[in-house]
Amino acid sequence: MTSGVIQPTDIREVAVIGLGLMGSGIAELVARSGRRVDAIEIDRSFLDQGMARLRASLDKAVSRGKLTDAARDEILARIRPTDDVAAGVADADLVIEAIPERMELKKALFDQLDEACRADTILATNTSSLSITEIAGGTRYGARVAGMHFFNPAPVMKLVEVISTVLTPPEIAETLALLSSDLGKTPVQVSDRAGFVVNALLFPYLNHAIRLLETAQATREDIDKAATAGLGLPMGPLTLLDLVGLDTDLAILETLQAEFGGSRYAPAPLLRKLCDARLFGRKSGRGFYDYRRPSTLTAPAEDHGRAPVPAEVALIREDGRLDELASQITATGIRVAPQPSDETGLVIVAADPRHRVLDAALAAGHPADVVGVHFVESGNRKPGLAELVLPDITAAGTAAKAAALAARIGLDAVITRDRPGFLTETLAYAQFNDAVRMFQDGYASPADIDTAMMLGCGYPRGPLQMLDEVGAARVVSVLEAMHAATGDPAFTPVPLLAEYAAAGTRFRN
Ligand code: 3HC
Repeated sequence: MTSGVIQPTDIREVAVIGLGLMGSGIAELVARSGRRVDAIEIDRSFLDQGMARLRASLDKAVSRGKLTDAARDEILARIRPTDDVAAGVADADLVIEAIPERMELKKALFDQLDEACRADTILATNTSSLSITEIAGGTRYGARVAGMHFFNPAPVMKLVEVISTVLTPPEIAETLALLSSDLGKTPVQVSDRAGFVVNALLFPYLNHAIRLLETAQATREDIDKAATAGLGLPMGPLTLLDLVGLDTDLAILETLQAEFGGSRYAPAPLLRKLCDARLFGRKSGRGFYDYRRPSTLTAPAEDHGRAPVPAEVALIREDGRLDELASQITATGIRVAPQPSDETGLVIVAADPRHRVLDAALAAGHPADVVGVHFVESGNRKPGLAELVLPDITAAGTAAKAAALAARIGLDAVITRDRPGFLTETLAYAQFNDAVRMFQDGYASPADIDTAMMLGCGYPRGPLQMLDEVGAARVVSVLEAMHAATGDPAFTPVPLLAEYAAAGTRFRN
């Protein structure tokens, strides 16, 4: 032991309280590290479900050849399931609380822990967004309470946010950071603020995706595809909301809204409706997607592929931006004309997320047949996703014709309404703005923000690195167009972003 810091080797028994989605994952992780685990859940049926989930996860690892039968049995032998909190925590060196996100439940549990734990037991909460300071302040020894925030799925995601309150001595935070590393995770140390780093950036973005769905900007599949194929994220936002659980999503957004206010955090009405209907996502069988009927998970957004492909398209080119597209279309035997005529089935114009396609459509003279095409770029990476942008005045069949053409020439495409930022940039740039605000407010460094999003949510690169690749000036101009179109102050570029754009400064070196 050095300078009062308890070393991870001295943490041999860990009590995990709450065996829901996160708790069972954390219990598995800790038991895999060789430590004894008291898996505590006061509801007997939740205890059985949690242990079944944990066993299934280990069985999956065995069937994938990642774990031997013997190793699985040893891990399970280290776990002691119980519905008795006092007995479960009595010998624990560390308690990790992962019960539902309700302050009154947390406070009642920590009262009980005051009585039942040894005085030197460290108490960590896995709360996603509740005030750890408030939890600590209500206990007898607030100094031993800190946050240890894992990410779903806990055995897989590499990040742990270690959260200190004003009461937490540095040694406790250091012990939890060392322990996180010992569990194979990367710790990021932050102070107690709603959403910490990851949830404060992730959840407004997820909420934004729900708003896009409920305002019919695009289908759920296309919103998800904009994030995966357009931004390179491992999961689309609506799929991720379903994975985390819509009740948890709602609770996190409510906490963020109470702390920060403003439209980015106000839960989208559709999220509330799904929760009211008890459609909680993957864990209840249905959320944004229906998991009881697997075919609905992979169904194409709409049956656009079967619409007839036009024999001739007009392609209005500026600066050679659509030259490559023209060659691809010609190669499939479809005539490409420079201007629309009576023969033309579809008019294609180059779309810019800062400007309305509508204006180009009116200028082209055949507005009902116009589709804008925007290829998503992210710095030097070109995922090649095409956004097919439809002004609201287009004819009913135009979307289907555009989709059929995209399918014919093998273009990976999404369809979106004509709103600034279209799909991919509106989602990404609003989050970049939030990330800059977090740095601007002195809460976390650009490097820590990027690391947290990469390890907590599987981002290929962090938001500030992506921002640098695109360029601050471009992000500012798209955000300004979004703000002008919606009047929503949340899209106003934060002062630091505007300054970096003016000076041409990068956030990461
Ligand atoms: N439990 C255990 N292991 C799991 C798992 C689970 N639920 N889901 C996937 N895995 C394992 C697989 O077994 C596989 O392991 P292997 O490489 O050793 O064989 C590995 O993870 C990759 O899985 P798959 O190949 O099946 O799937 P993907 O490559 O599609 O990855 C994913 C799945 C890791 C979940 C990936 O899609 C991802 O990173 N998604 C983003 C998740 C995210 O953002 N999480 C944060 C949510 S916010 C949060 O949790 C905060 C909280 O406060 C709400």
